[in-house]
Amino acid sequence: MIQLFHIYKNFGANIALNDINLRVHEGEFVFVTGPSGAGKTTLLRLIFGAERPAGGHILINGINLSRISRTRLDLLRRKIGFVFQDFKLLTNRTVFQNVSLALEVTGERRSFIRKKTRQALKLVGLVEKEKAFPLQLSGGEQQRVAIARAIVKDPLILLADEPTGNLDPELTKDIMVLFRSIHMKGTTVVVATHSRELLAGTAQRTVFLNRGRIVGEE
Ligand SMILES: Nc1ncnc2c1ncn2[C@@H]1O[C@H](COP(=O)(O)OP(=O)(O)OP(=O)(O)O)[C@@H](O)[C@H]1O
Ligand SMILES: [Mg+2]
Repeated sequence: MIQLFHIYKNFGANIALNDINLRVHEGEFVFVTGPSGAGKTTLLRLIFGAERPAGGHILINGINLSRISRTRLDLLRRKIGFVFQDFKLLTNRTVFQNVSLALEVTGERRSFIRKKTRQALKLVGLVEKEKAFPLQLSGGEQQRVAIARAIVKDPLILLADEPTGNLDPELTKDIMVLFRSIHMKGTTVVVATHSRELLAGTAQRTVFLNRGRIVGEE
């Protein structure tokens, strides 16, 4: 499903990822962890095709990301949900619109889009905020909008970058339960986090990153 071969990524002299080899199978749930600056966000962005590696290659469902056209990359991305560390919500759109936009590009029927959007907002506990604008929400609420937007399209792959960074312990638990239920439906899930609480007590596969290298796995 996701395969990385000898991936290098640098930003000028700064090496963000250094010879990363990783394989995530279809339907797997993987945590990627490591200190700030380890390369977690960069890794997810490369898998999403938002950044290009300086070396190595990435296969998603057997498709080489560096070989496909922009159009095919866009199509592939529709099957990948991404929860951004900094949310990337559209401030001039309502909560409902932020989530439904993810479906509008697919050309689905309006009634279907409305139903799916409400479902996603319900899952993250934000139905009553659907008419609010992002800047009228708390950090945790914005984070949950970002999660709803990522899951609304029933992605094959869910990439979540520090998805509980702004949530209290109770909501963190709820979101992890939600991710697990999405995983149970067959979605491949990759969660990047430096939160020890999130990892504590999980038996999930965990990949440890440090200074751009994989330094361990549990
Ligand atoms: N757009 C960029 N331009 C320059 N340097 C970058 C850029 N993005 C990331 N980096 C650098 O790459 C390294 C890895 O960053 P990355 O954001 O992937 O780390 P991270 O593990 O997600 O950290 P955090 O836990 O703080 O989110 C860091 O040294 C960072 O400064
Ligand atoms: Mg990060």
